[in-house]
Amino acid sequence: MAIISVRELSKHFKVSKHNRGTMGAVRNLFSRQHTTVRAVDEISFEIQPGELVGYIGPNGAGKSTTIKMLTGLLVPTSGELSVNGLVPWKERQNYVARVGAVFGQRTTLWWDLPVIESLSLLQHIYKIPPGRFEANLKEFRETLELDPFLNTPVRAISLGQRMRADLCAALLHDPDLLFLDEPTIGLDVVAKERIRGFIQKVNRQRGTTVILTTHDLSDVGKLCQRVMIIDHGKLLYDGNLSALKDRFSGKRELVVEFAEEYANPQIASAELTHQDGSRVTYHFSRDTITASELIGGISAQYRIRDLEVREPEIEETIRRIYEERLLERI
Ligand SMILES: Nc1ncnc2c1ncn2[C@@H]1O[C@H](COP(=O)(O)OP(=O)(O)O)[C@@H](O)[C@H]1O
Ligand SMILES: [Mg+2]
Repeated sequence: MAIISVRELSKHFKVSKHNRGTMGAVRNLFSRQHTTVRAVDEISFEIQPGELVGYIGPNGAGKSTTIKMLTGLLVPTSGELSVNGLVPWKERQNYVARVGAVFGQRTTLWWDLPVIESLSLLQHIYKIPPGRFEANLKEFRETLELDPFLNTPVRAISLGQRMRADLCAALLHDPDLLFLDEPTIGLDVVAKERIRGFIQKVNRQRGTTVILTTHDLSDVGKLCQRVMIIDHGKLLYDGNLSALKDRFSGKRELVVEFAEEYANPQIASAELTHQDGSRVTYHFSRDTITASELIGGISAQYRIRDLEVREPEIEETIRRIYEERLLERI
């Protein structure tokens, strides 16, 4: 039985269009024009108990909107959604007792209270039996190293400490499911690594199902077997991370600024993917040819003004998947 089941789920936002300038301002008074943003656009997927899934995509892709629907904070525009056998926004009381969530952008803790008091309040809110609470708190104090700031108000701790406190808060009531929305945003490499290690441990040792939302591919690289990629509200890929990597990570990019504009300057062992006047982009595989061999080959045929070798970024890779509709071929 799937723990999460999502079918053709959509969330649309109506946003008002503003006309610019003085006349625009006058027009705004008389007519309210709206455009619809399809933040999440008919996505479907299932998640099995115990999975650790990376939910990735560029900024504005629709990740947080999905998580907000999954956690019952937003009501879908259309589609079906069931988590732990419940419809999140309809049965919120029963629902929250079984899930935990961390939003990287804002804390779920009380800003002015010492961390430990926030955690005690949660014990009462979730009606966590004292024995469970003590055992969990003891474990998380160690694994998340909470002791140095346990008595400090949340507003006075660092972002990394805040994220660790939020993780503890989300897990004290032993949820079956943990939603993490950008839990490493704004953290340095060491702090990120620590959070990743903890997430992995929770998933493995407690069997907690985890959905990890991030725009940082290095987060999912080490943690997740399965990734889902979303962009413009559409689910572009759902599957094995290594298959996705094989398809793209070997690819490098060479951008050449030619001294003049050539018509279709093709070269061997590289694929011409974009031409904008004298500026041409090639893709090549590091297994087939080295960058210097490639540059040697081009300069023998054409006059070059400037060039640059690039590793494709995740955002770019995702956009390319979308634009070139490579999906079927992955
Ligand atoms: N409350 C809202 N009102 C209007 N538009 C919104 C609202 N929330 C999100 N959006 C829009 O929906 C799209 C997806 O946003 P979001 O889910 O936050 O993306 P992500 O988390 O992947 O960065 C964006 O275009 C964003 O501007
Ligand atoms: Mg977001």
